[in-house]
Amino acid sequence: MSLTDPGRTSAQYDTEERLAIRQSVWHPTIDGREPSTEALAAIVATSPRHVLEVGSGTGAFAARLAAALPDAEVVAVDRSARMVELTASRGLEARVADAQALPFDDDSQDAVAACWMLYHVPFLDTALAEVRRVLRPGGTFVAVTNGDEHVADLIRASGADVVPTHFSSENGEAALRRHFDEVSRDDFATRAFFADRETALAYLESRQEPVTWSPPTDGWPRECAGHVTVFVAR
Ligand SMILES: C[S@@+](CC[C@H](N)C(=O)[O-])C[C@H]1O[C@@H](n2cnc3c(N)ncnc32)[C@H](O)[C@@H]1O
Repeated sequence: MSLTDPGRTSAQYDTEERLAIRQSVWHPTIDGREPSTEALAAIVATSPRHVLEVGSGTGAFAARLAAALPDAEVVAVDRSARMVELTASRGLEARVADAQALPFDDDSQDAVAACWMLYHVPFLDTALAEVRRVLRPGGTFVAVTNGDEHVADLIRASGADVVPTHFSSENGEAALRRHFDEVSRDDFATRAFFADRETALAYLESRQEPVTWSPPTDGWPRECAGHVTVFVAR
């Protein structure tokens, strides 16, 4: 089973609890810049009228898009019915859909966002071709992802190897260049804070990987380095 395994990804996001556990450990970066805020700014700067978020999770980013762009039509999709329900409960338009078959017309979007989700998509190039298809020429695609060394210290210290993904800080740019003419990137050193062994175990188990996690018994609290990249493609 891998990060892209459809069964594993689906079970992981059937409900919001595992995502909330993973998000709760992140602290502000040392320089105060925050990846999703920079991703939001990259979209808002283009003054889009039609914006699509793919893999919206609970809808937090789509809600920020809608607040920052009151005249825009913001639509969110996710393959998890529960995530769509949570996004819709914020008063946003949300639909169940797969990134590999977007239910939108060609050239219908001015901007598309995909935050921390492309590494789950089994056929990455199918999803990127779909984003390219629904974006109008010159439209903006913002994709956020993690690097291979993201919380790698904790993963290794807890008995597992780091498994590279197929859309990461390291290989995401090459993947995007297969579909887009221009790609720029902004890299972030992020910080996760684990108060105790139980918090770390809950974080690791929320990833639903086929690993029996064994975090160290001492050395808590512990801070771990994260690596995040915001790609902007046109
Ligand atoms: C790590 S969560 C990120 C959620 C949100 N973008 C965020 O940044 O908080 C990944 C999300 O992508 C969704 N997802 C995974 N594979 C997908 C696919 N093929 N098509 C659409 N959504 C997908 C999951 O259901 C989940 O809500």
